[in-house]
This record gives sequence, structure tokens and C-alpha cells, in this order.
Amino acid sequence: MTNKNLIDLEAMTVDQIEKIVRKARKIMQSPDDFRHACDGKILATLFYEPSTRTQMSFQTAMLKLGGRTIGFDNPMNSSVAKGESLKDTVTIISSYADIIAMRHPVEGTAMAASLYSKVPLINCGDGGHLHPTQTLTDIVTLSCEKGRLDHLKIGVCGDLLNGRTVHSLIKTLAKYEGNSFVLISTPELCVPLYIIDILEKNGCPYEISHSLSDAVADLDVLYMTRIQRERFKSEEEYEAQKYVFVLDREKLDRAPEDMIILHPLPRVNEITVDIDDDPRALYFKQAQYGMFGRMALILLLLQDEDFVIAERETQISEHCCKNPKCVTQSEAYLPRLSYQKLGMQMCGFCDKRID
Ligand code: CP
Repeated sequence: MTNKNLIDLEAMTVDQIEKIVRKARKIMQSPDDFRHACDGKILATLFYEPSTRTQMSFQTAMLKLGGRTIGFDNPMNSSVAKGESLKDTVTIISSYADIIAMRHPVEGTAMAASLYSKVPLINCGDGGHLHPTQTLTDIVTLSCEKGRLDHLKIGVCGDLLNGRTVHSLIKTLAKYEGNSFVLISTPELCVPLYIIDILEKNGCPYEISHSLSDAVADLDVLYMTRIQRERFKSEEEYEAQKYVFVLDREKLDRAPEDMIILHPLPRVNEITVDIDDDPRALYFKQAQYGMFGRMALILLLLQDEDFVIAERETQISEHCCKNPKCVTQSEAYLPRLSYQKLGMQMCGFCDKRID
């Protein structure tokens, strides 16, 4: 089955990802050629969780393409505050807009919303699960700044457990030949096992490190991330993790001259500001590349009939998902979708094991 929803970048082929990158580069070169490409089209941004870059870069992307935007960035100012379900909200909005960009704090929400949307729906982050358009941002940045998406040694550092941007990035770059990862975190915040499974399944080498200072000496890319305060059970647990990994001038002096530093942002002290002017610090430029990647994505989803994304084959399961952070816990009407992976039954919404 195929569709026009972007829930998980893993569903896209390498050719499709590269098509987005090529289109983004074309838009950067000749923005005037695209000024009316989406005349008359409407993008709805449904942001149930705070955002600066993702929301505003999607809105800017649509405006620069000649389209218009509607939406909310605080669900408490919408009928969600009166108890409206996800299903009803999405059913209605998809009869107003031509395309929807959605962020939600609950895992699997984008997949759930896509079941009820009549128009393409883009996952802009679902809890600690995935953030595919951040990965598009990262891919466009790597393509423009490193000139390749393969044969890269990538250090990812920080909250690798809750950081959805890292999960999407690893899943995507693991598809490219010659890439390897250094996973730099505390033992408490290491990547979920399903990400390790993906690395192993793709034959992608990885090392686990607890020292940013050691790891930084031999990397092509350092991808820093924030400790995700909002995903911790208690303030004490967050306090124990914050500021463990801080990229400062002393550590950066150990890094190769051609290493680039990326960060999905927002930054909360994990990169000292004196590094911002170092030519290797590309995180602000990265956010700008993201807007072009999102322009390309909107265009391909709305205008390229051949640009269809593979849909995972799911079945109705007898088991309920036990992940307390899964959307099936809060939206009780959802079907119990599951799929098979490596002989295990996985939740069709949050990708956690359910059998
Ligand atoms: N990188 C990112 O998702 O930033 P925002 O939370 O500001 O959208």
C-alpha cells in the first residue's frame, strides 16, 4: 500500500529522500521559480506541543510557495480544550486544508491522525518517538555541507533515549553505505533497543561512549542534542542528567578541522555560546536548510503524483499496546494495529513491542 503521509522517514526509499534533497537545492538556487508553486493551497499546522523552528519553517515554507496557512499552536485555544478527539479534529481540518503538519506530545499520534486525514499528513514530532522532517533538515544540511550522505562517522550526543530527532536520523543514515555511529550518552539515556536492532540489521557499525571529550577527536559530524526535560518522570532525574555533556572550546579544540557540529535546537547549555562563531558550528544554518527541505517536501507531496510513500502492512492485533506513552492509551477508539518485525509483534502506532 502507498500513501502521501510522512509518518516515519524509514518508509521512504533512498531515491525519494534524495529527490527531496535535489528539490530543496533547486529551490535554494532559484527561489523565484517557486514563488507561485502552491498558489491557492492551504497548510494547516496543528501543534499540540511547543515549537519554534518546525512550526514556523513549515509556515514560512508554504508562504514562500505562494500558499496560505491556518492552525493552532496551543490546543487549549481550540476545541481540544472541550474534549474533542484527535479523530474528530483531523477529520474536520482535513476538509479545510490541502496538507497538515502535526506535532503532538504522545507517541504514535501522527500515525493515528493519518487514519482519519483526507489530505497528506506530516509528522512534526510525536512524543519521544520520531521527528522525520528534522531528519530531512539534517540530510539537506549534510548534503550541502559535507557533500555526501555516506561514509560518515557521526557522533550523536545527549539524550539518546528521548531524543526523537536522533532516532529518525540514525534510522535514515543507517541505510547509507559506510556510515558509522558513536553513541555518546549516560547509561540512563542510551538509545532504545529498537534503534540498536536497526543498526545491527543494516550492518551499520556503532560504538557506545560515555566521553564526549574522547569521541570528538575522530568524527565527521557531531550531532548534539538537548536533555529532554519534558520527558522525565521527575525533576530529580532530569537534574541528574543535565549538563553531563557540554561541548565547549576545550573539547572542540580536540576535534578535526573539517568536523561539522549540528544540533536540532533548541539548545539548553549543551553547546557553549563562544563556539557559535566557529566555522564548524552549523546549527543555525541547519535550521535554515530545514525550511528549504520542508518547501521541497510540501511540493512533492502536493504536486508529484509519483511521489507516494510506502505504507506498512498492519493487522488487527488481539493484544493492546502496553506503552503508557502510546496514543492508543488516550484515544480509545483506535484499532489495535500491529505488524511483525524479527518475529515480534510491534504496535502499529508507537513501534514498541506488544506481544
Ligand atoms: N528542532 C525542532 O524541532 O525545533 P522546534 O522544537 O523549535 O520545532
